Amino acid sequence: MKREILIYNQALLAAKAAADLILEKALIKNNTSSKLNIAVSGGSTPKQLFQLLSDEDYRNQIPWHSVRFFWVDERCVEPTHPESNFGMTYDALLQFAFVPSANIFRMKGEDIPENEAERYAALLRKEVPFRNGFPVFDIILLGMGDDGHTASIFPDNLALLRSHKAVDIATHPINGQKRITLTGNTLNNAEHIVFLITGSNKANVLTSIMQNSPEAQQYPAAHIGTNLSNTYFYLDKEAAKFL
Ligand code: 6PG
Repeated sequence: MKREILIYNQALLAAKAAADLILEKALIKNNTSSKLNIAVSGGSTPKQLFQLLSDEDYRNQIPWHSVRFFWVDERCVEPTHPESNFGMTYDALLQFAFVPSANIFRMKGEDIPENEAERYAALLRKEVPFRNGFPVFDIILLGMGDDGHTASIFPDNLALLRSHKAVDIATHPINGQKRITLTGNTLNNAEHIVFLITGSNKANVLTSIMQNSPEAQQYPAAHIGTNLSNTYFYLDKEAAKFL
């Protein structure tokens, strides 16, 4: 399996690399009359990618009817809440792109977390291929927090990396916000894992992970991108400044 680390002068160019990969995989799927199942993260980094995908260049090239959107994680808030990952994706991309509503599978942050985690896991069993007991997404788009978290798997709950569930519940370690998240076994089951990581505040943790240092084991992101998946790290030079 491929492991690719690409460093760009600007965050926008790193986002463009991710956009090009999504375009490439979507066209391949479309040409074989199949669908691209992509699970996307929230946060500020993907927002730049989504805005890029909504620009004419990409918007008019991507066969949106062949792209099915799932979420890596969601905050337990209404979809209209400013912290909603779905809300961010809708504002930056989905309101502009021609993604059929039948291709949008949002996590319902407004519902009881335990119920939604079960509902979403059942939805994945119905909508996404499975391998080794976990869903196989074509692309999983991940970011990384400056504490090394990814998805909503935080350093104080590494057990989510090995959960027997495909979807589980998490709690933000600082503000206590409940989250729904794909688990480590689901993330590592993907065909293509794309880490989009930018900003100097990520540099120390990212370097520790890239150098496979002993302290990196405390960071959830260090445990994602094993030998089952093609893993791409699209970085800007700020995040990669110590590499
Ligand atoms: C979330 C995201 C999360 C994100 C990191 C990085 O719901 O917050 O899924 O895992 O990828 O927090 O966020 P930034 O891109 O804003 O740095």
